[in-house]
Amino acid sequence: NQLRTVVQAMPKAELHIHIEGSLEPELIFALAERNGVQLTYPSVEALRQAYAFKDLQSFLDIYYAGASVLLKEQDFYDMTAAYLKKAAADNVRHTEIFFDPQTHTARGVPMETVVNGIYKACQDSPVSATLILCFLRHLSEEDALETLEQALPFRDKFIGVGLDSSEVGHPPEKFARVFARCRDLGLHLVAHAGEEGPPAYIQSALDVLKVERIDHGVRILEDRALTERVAREGIALTVCPLSNTKLRVFDQMQDHNLVQLLDAGLVATVNSDDPAYFGGYMNDNFLAVFDSLPLGLSHAQRLARNSFVAAFLPAEQKQAFL
Ligand code: HPA
Ligand code: ZN
Repeated sequence: NQLRTVVQAMPKAELHIHIEGSLEPELIFALAERNGVQLTYPSVEALRQAYAFKDLQSFLDIYYAGASVLLKEQDFYDMTAAYLKKAAADNVRHTEIFFDPQTHTARGVPMETVVNGIYKACQDSPVSATLILCFLRHLSEEDALETLEQALPFRDKFIGVGLDSSEVGHPPEKFARVFARCRDLGLHLVAHAGEEGPPAYIQSALDVLKVERIDHGVRILEDRALTERVAREGIALTVCPLSNTKLRVFDQMQDHNLVQLLDAGLVATVNSDDPAYFGGYMNDNFLAVFDSLPLGLSHAQRLARNSFVAAFLPAEQKQAFL
């Protein structure tokens, strides 16, 4: 149909994609074989069958298990190259890719293996791609500080830091010192907040961590004053529709609040989060919301425009897309 054509044709930026979440079951099995890693699932089909989540944690358990097949620089390269190919096919012109080094360094994989594999694939792609290092919030701030130290030799290979993993019980304040340090280093700052956690986490991500964008943030509408402030300040939300329904943040796409977020004047964007686990890449996310919500062509253009407005790109480069 017409909307599919329009969505496909629009240049887009993707601002919320965990590279480990782009690992397709087929590649998980191929890498397990290549590296002699034993998987607890007998087949690709059995693994895919296990992708029935009830909340964020039930997803994270299987997502970390999938990432255990990544050992060598080539593995990180192959995973990233596969994602960038999908992004290019969806007419994603720029992407800011999250990676979770602690998921790998905790297994004895060196930081340089992780960063170099992902970074080289970005350099070899026609898609503009930058990296955002995410700290795992279920681990301690000391662990995050240690991870930052390990990453500093590669400071030129990532543009910012983020905060992901289990949200409830791990408020942004827990990472105040490491984010202050990253701010001093001139890194861009983002954090997941208001996915499963309360609007108070969005507020402390802004006021304590001083983040420039909120990842997810869909629970913001529960706090009217905060909504008005975030709209006024033009702080973007990187919304992930298929993720939100698969993790039961919303029971079904018809219940998603994307329209209300846009109507509130918020700079909302559409993104895939963990496309291999949630059933689709960038355009699949766009088409899913347009199938279920009262959105039209002008909204599609607004969302695509927002993705570049919210991107961490130099003004001239941004302007070229707008
Ligand atoms: N939320 C928190 N942590 C994550 C996510 C998410 O949606 N995806 C990968 N790690
Ligand atoms: Zn995410």
